[in-house]
Parts: sequence; structure tokens; C-alpha cells
Amino acid sequence: MVIPAAGMGTRFLPATKAVPKELLPLGDTPALQYVIDEALGAGIDHIVLVSSAHKPAIAEYARPDPALVETVRRKGDDALAERLAGIGRDWRATVVFQDAPRGLGHAVGCAADVVDGDAVAVALPDEVMGDATLLSRMVQVCGDTGGSVVGFMTVPMEQTSAYGVIDPAGPLVDGVVPVADLVEKPAAGTAPSGHILIGRYVLTIDVFDEIASTAPGAGGEIQLTDALRAQAARSPFHGVLNTGPRWDTGTPLGFLLAAIDIAGRDPEVAAAVRAHLNSD
Ligand code: G1P
Repeated sequence: MVIPAAGMGTRFLPATKAVPKELLPLGDTPALQYVIDEALGAGIDHIVLVSSAHKPAIAEYARPDPALVETVRRKGDDALAERLAGIGRDWRATVVFQDAPRGLGHAVGCAADVVDGDAVAVALPDEVMGDATLLSRMVQVCGDTGGSVVGFMTVPMEQTSAYGVIDPAGPLVDGVVPVADLVEKPAAGTAPSGHILIGRYVLTIDVFDEIASTAPGAGGEIQLTDALRAQAARSPFHGVLNTGPRWDTGTPLGFLLAAIDIAGRDPEVAAAVRAHLNSD
């Protein structure tokens, strides 16, 4: 799975001056690990991190560290030692670098040489899902149809201009909609539907050829959505509706809300947070 993680995290400065946004913690776990766990839950164990030379901590996080595992084990915390041991054992990482911020399509394209197989998953770490249900279903639909698949949710029309939007080719059946076309950040009032892309993709491998021939689009950047339009025009292409929890962690407020919700999954922590919020 390709995880674009080369952005400067400007919305989180000064926190992101030294610490990559993807490594900011939700509880005791970096946001990036939630995305990696989602991949593992969908049966994907090769993680391609598209990083930047300014963010060496991304590669450092993905480096197996047997000495650290041993230290934690000796302290008696086997559960934590197991979590740390998973790095490099349960998943292997390849780090590639994006030299300049030239858009999401360009970032994904940086992984072209290190990905093999018929299809590739892409996950934007600005969105955190509660589990692997959506991605697993997307992998299944890609296998069944032989075409690319995007994850989506439905929002009021006035919110569509901040996202990639699906132009459906037919009705939603069983949570799956056929896609005729897609549009990146449509101008107000022009979106073809309220079905927005939420940063999860399972794409046939020819997406890398499409990216290579995609010209800069919205914002002067090479847009992944534009590369997908070419696929949708000639191949089966579907959207899968997300029905599980999802957090938009692209802003400090969204990140805080995700941290609170995720902490709340532990009943003891939930009780303490509730008591704290209710105290004067
Ligand atoms: C990107 C994609 C967009 C998608 C969004 C989801 O936009 O280009 O199609 O809907 O992520 O988070 P960005 O948020 O990087 O502007």
C-alpha cells in the first residue's frame, strides 16, 4: 500500500517543524500506524512510504529495532514489545522520496518502481478509519470487477468543492456504485453528486502509466483524480461506500476529535475523559 507522507504539514505548524504530521500521536500510537494496521487488516503487508528528505523520522519509524523490543520485553511489557516487534516482521516498508510538492498524483507516481502485482492500494494518512472493513471490501470489489475502486462517503452538495467527487454511472447497490467519471474539487454548484473521495483507493497497476501522462490540473498539481478519470473512461471503475467510523485528521481540530474518539474506545480511558470534560 502506498502512503503519501511527504507533505510539510503546514496546518500543524509549529508542531510539524520537527515532527512529521503522520507521526503525531492518537493516544500512544502515531496516526501512521493506524493506516498501516488498516492495510494489515485488509491483507496488505508491503507499505510504501512516500516521504521527503526533510522528514527522516518517517523512515526511522519503519525501521525494525530489535534492541528496543528486547529492552521493552525485559521490562516485562510483552504486549508492547509485540507491537514494536511487528515493525519489519508483520509489515515491511519501502521508503521513496518525493523531491517537490507536485501533487497527490505525483506523490503516488513516486512509488511506481517499487510496487508490483496487478493492483495497488493507496491510503491518505489524513484520514483515519476505525478498522479495515472498507479497504477489505475495496480489495474484494477490485478482484471481482478487475477494475479500480475508490472509497467514498456522501456529503451535502455544498461541501463537495473541497474533494474529489464521483460522477456515478448507475445506482448504489449493496454499497457499491459504478463510476462514469470523477472530478477534483468541482466549483460550487457543479458537483455531479455528493459522493466524495475519502482517501482510500485500490487501483489497477496501469494507474502508474496514467499518472505519467497526466498534466497538472487543479491547483497546478498532478492530481490522482485526473489519472483515475482515464481509467474510469475505459475500464470498470467502482466506488465503495464507507459505513464505518472515519476521522478527518487533516486539521488540528479534526485530529483532536479523532484522539478523543479513539481514546474513548478503551472503556477505562473513556470514563476518565468523560469525567474530566464534565468537571468544572
Ligand atoms: C485529496 C484528493 C481528493 C480527496 C481528498 C480526501 O485532496 O485530491 O480527491 O477527496 O484528498 O481527503 P486534498 O485533501 O489533499 O486536497
